Amino acid sequence: MRESLLNGAASRSSNGLVGPSEVSRAVRRSAGVRGDKDLLSLERTARAEFLGAGPVLQPLLDDPQVSDVVVNGDGSVWVDRGSGLRAVPGRLRAVRELATRLAAASGQRLDDAAPVAEGRLPDGTRLHALLPPLCAEGAVLSLRTMRTRAFGLDELRASGMLDDRSAQVLERLVQVRANVLVSGATGTGKTTLVASALSLVPPGERIICIEEAAELAPDHPHVLHLQVRRPNVQGAGEITLPDLVRTAMRMRPDRLVLGECRGAEVREVLGALNTGHDGGWATVHANAARDVPARLVALGALAGMSPATVAVQARSAVHAVVHLVRREGRRRLTEVAVLRAEGAEGFRAALALRCDRRGELAEAEAWPELARTLDDAGR
Ligand SMILES: Nc1ncnc2c1ncn2[C@@H]1O[C@H](COP(=O)(O)OP(=O)(O)OP(=O)(O)O)[C@@H](O)[C@H]1O
Ligand SMILES: [Mg+2]
Repeated sequence: MRESLLNGAASRSSNGLVGPSEVSRAVRRSAGVRGDKDLLSLERTARAEFLGAGPVLQPLLDDPQVSDVVVNGDGSVWVDRGSGLRAVPGRLRAVRELATRLAAASGQRLDDAAPVAEGRLPDGTRLHALLPPLCAEGAVLSLRTMRTRAFGLDELRASGMLDDRSAQVLERLVQVRANVLVSGATGTGKTTLVASALSLVPPGERIICIEEAAELAPDHPHVLHLQVRRPNVQGAGEITLPDLVRTAMRMRPDRLVLGECRGAEVREVLGALNTGHDGGWATVHANAARDVPARLVALGALAGMSPATVAVQARSAVHAVVHLVRREGRRRLTEVAVLRAEGAEGFRAALALRCDRRGELAEAEAWPELARTLDDAGR
């Protein structure tokens, strides 16, 4: 049945890729005489098999509670519904074939010569695939679902990520056009929080988002998404994040946003935020706000910046660091910090708000500095 469907579908396809209408036609031709219900269920299975992530993974990805689905080399499937990864019963077979097909669907090559693929499926799902021998157990897949809808600040409050105080601080940071770094570990909600903050930007402003792959989805009428281009099979044509930051600066942005700062682009971003492009947002991986300076120094080193240069640039460019954590499935804004000079050439993150023993955000040593930023009507 599978072969006859595949042949039927592929023979109709002009570009070699199977499309939704080809699958529908092939199902109807191959199914013989069946009731509407059977036909619909057959078509759903065939679509999952040929167009989506397959009959096991696609229903998981379609579940609105699911944020991540990973498949390990032994075929075990794990799914995150908000409280960490949980095993799904059973084993997936032919993971390598599935990984290769999904990589092709996201326009990437995945084979022995190119054993790592990173891309996006047609529905926006973020895909990462790795083949052996890089992964000793066998081919592995990591899929992150895309919920394109922006969360409003009220929803973030309802989910427990924000309390009244942190919601007010975020609103004010947007209003005074502060430059903000959002830090946190993987999956803590950094991108989600930035998108929510950007939804508060006045509609007359032009937002330019620069990302590895377009992911930020603020509820705003004037947003441009710039995304990197990987080199082609011959290794030519690459457009990097630093290239895009330079390009974006010439595109009359009112707000420059870097989805994730994880390499040499830190130089261009700090440069841009220091030269009049206020109101920018970026995310950075760090386990606590106090680790952000070391992370920036490490990224700056990739761009040939000395620690002292990073310190000077970051201190004048970044007005606040907003830190998120995820504990027992719950995401929370737990710290807001400002960057302060330390010693002759260093800098550190001083906490302005931190969670107290009762779990509420309370003022800390650097609150007066943050308060000045939030009061800065003329910014
Ligand atoms: N407050 C929230 N309530 C419910 N779900 C949330 C919340 N914040 C984020 N999520 C969900 O958690 C998942 C991860 O969020 P997000 O992509 O924003 O994290 P991230 O820190 O940017 O991750 P990464 O480090 O991979 O870039 C997404 O599916 C998102 O919809
Ligand atoms: Mg992110």
